[in-house]
Amino acid sequence: MIRFEKVSKVFRGSSGTVKALDDVSLWIPEGSIYGVIGSSGAGKSTLIRCANLLERPTAGRVVVDGRDLVQLSPADLRNARRDIGMIFQYFNLLANSTVYENIALPLKLAGEKAARIEETIAPLLELVGLEDKRDSYPSQLSGGQKQRVAIARALASQPKVLLCDEATSALDPKTTVSILNLLRDINRKLGLTILLITHEMEVVKSICDQVAILSDGQVVEHNDVESFFLNPQTDLAREFVRAAVHEKPIEDLPAGIQKEQTEGSHPVLHITFLGNSTVQPLITQAARQFNLDFSIIQADMETVHGKTMGFLTVEVVGDELNAKSAQAFLRKHDLQVEVAGYVC
Ligand SMILES: Nc1ncnc2c1ncn2[C@@H]1O[C@H](COP(=O)(O)OP(=O)(O)O)[C@@H](O)[C@H]1O
Ligand SMILES: [Mg+2]
Repeated sequence: MIRFEKVSKVFRGSSGTVKALDDVSLWIPEGSIYGVIGSSGAGKSTLIRCANLLERPTAGRVVVDGRDLVQLSPADLRNARRDIGMIFQYFNLLANSTVYENIALPLKLAGEKAARIEETIAPLLELVGLEDKRDSYPSQLSGGQKQRVAIARALASQPKVLLCDEATSALDPKTTVSILNLLRDINRKLGLTILLITHEMEVVKSICDQVAILSDGQVVEHNDVESFFLNPQTDLAREFVRAAVHEKPIEDLPAGIQKEQTEGSHPVLHITFLGNSTVQPLITQAARQFNLDFSIIQADMETVHGKTMGFLTVEVVGDELNAKSAQAFLRKHDLQVEVAGYVC
């Protein structure tokens, strides 16, 4: 549905040039919820603004629903943009317009008749759960309700794509969950493709199907969300995953943990797995078979993309070769095993 092909964006200013996007290629499949995560300044907002050409790439193609936006005439671009809704961190509502008027705005601008506007908006108000707020003003609404208005407004022109720029970053955790549920609902009911950018892994974990990490304007890693959590490939991805599953950084784990193996030291393993039924017996079996002691340092279960995933950190005490064999055994049974370090 959206294809970024070798997209670069360079900002030139008085203080020099900034390469906000550097040769970014990503494909966002139709009907998916695609998350782009990264630290502040990574280029996330620039990327999402390129998806509707609020920002024009310095190089590359941005293909939405088969059309390369970069090549379109201004009139065709205006047309293409009707298929692309957008919501923002701070909602961007008109303070002096009611909820209804805010949602109606894009239709009014497109010259729709009042009756047609009413027909479109009534079900949208229901969809976002704001039927009783239609004549309220933004100042009378909570943050979550304001974002619901913004979502309804974005949907008014029946877009195929919804872009979300940090849409829940200004909301408290509970409201965040309700807005994420609404977005997933809309994705399912309307088949809408959603591209969202966020610095919160919570968002990726709960609603995204796929995820990409941006760093310094480059895509560091992209994958489906399950594989991303189970088996991150880069240090940056590992860092994001560990933070998302509330794992303590390894330096805070047993005193004296070190990177290198030394005489008489034991490995500390990160074990990641899908589901929760088979792990306990597997670990028990590995301990018996290889005559080892597994002591759990931390353990966490999380729901990722609707599935239960487990994250264990264990110290393995026993013979060095046996400890290696136990790792191979666990890997053979589809557990992800990574040596975090060694303790004496
Ligand atoms: N309009 C602009 N002019 C100059 N530099 C910009 C502009 N917009 C963004 N940048 C720079 O581009 C980089 C990426 O910014 P941005 O896309 O906003 O990152 P993020 O959304 O991930 O925090 C930053 O270094 C930022 O300062
Ligand atoms: Mg941003």
